[in-house]
Amino acid sequence: MQGKLLVVGSLNMDMVVNVSRHPQIGETILGGKFSTFPGGKGANQAVAAARMGAEVTMIGCVGQDGFGEELRAGAANDGIDIQYVSVDENAATGIALITVDDIGQNTIVVASGANLALTPDCLLTSKQAFANADVLVAQLENPLKTVSEALTLAAANKLKVVLNPAPAQSLSAELLSKVDYFIPNEREAMQVVGAETLEAAIDQLLGMGVQNLIITLGEKGVLVITADGRRQIPAYPVIAIDTVAAGDAFVGAFATGIAEGLNVDDAVKLGNAAAAISVTRHGAQPSLPIRKEVNEFLGGQK
Ligand code: RIB
Repeated sequence: MQGKLLVVGSLNMDMVVNVSRHPQIGETILGGKFSTFPGGKGANQAVAAARMGAEVTMIGCVGQDGFGEELRAGAANDGIDIQYVSVDENAATGIALITVDDIGQNTIVVASGANLALTPDCLLTSKQAFANADVLVAQLENPLKTVSEALTLAAANKLKVVLNPAPAQSLSAELLSKVDYFIPNEREAMQVVGAETLEAAIDQLLGMGVQNLIITLGEKGVLVITADGRRQIPAYPVIAIDTVAAGDAFVGAFATGIAEGLNVDDAVKLGNAAAAISVTRHGAQPSLPIRKEVNEFLGGQK
């Protein structure tokens, strides 16, 4: 069964410098290669899902500039319906300044630009997109009130909701109660509730009504907490060269699995495989695998 996904999210042009190590505050270092890659957590998750075989519609906003044109064209080229990705003539397309070190770890600073022009009003013209979808996927690179409105529209249209709270900010119990699958990494889980340990964060998130808590732990795999209990699903071991968009590869593939009717654990395994492949490649969207690659990768695992 092909799932229908609606992604409400960001589009950024990533400006990436490879470094031997990340600079300290006040320090200048010489980096290596400079590259630009299409990115943005929303667009990355939309592309990840489309390459996994989902039918994807995206709602977002770019500026009236070359980066915006390139990002819209790239998404369309991946088969994503971009009719609701608007062009704001008063804002620049979002960009991300990224450093990637020799062991694939990254730092990211986003200048949101047009992503902040995606107001709740923008969703009024895209109601049909909600009516047509099975699963909503959202992150936090757009205004929180827009994400909140998207969750409300999703509930009205009986969509399953996947929320990746990145970059993290404090979230209310009211908002969390509208989420079916909440997918933070370890740091984000703690930041969302202001907890000092992961266990405290888990207790608080469950107490606030999170139904399915899926915490990505990088090379340690994924901690899954659902009504069926708590288990850790291991990551597939690979040699990482660039971890940018690994989380997005996971979320896009996981949401595709859920839209196809997979159970949570099988959808997590699909996400883990997509993420494992993505970290062996450079860049955000160029690193995202197609379904055939994921299936072959999974077939080669013991
Ligand atoms: O998750 C990776 C993404 O975060 C990058 O592509 C960058 O644009 C930021 O949104």
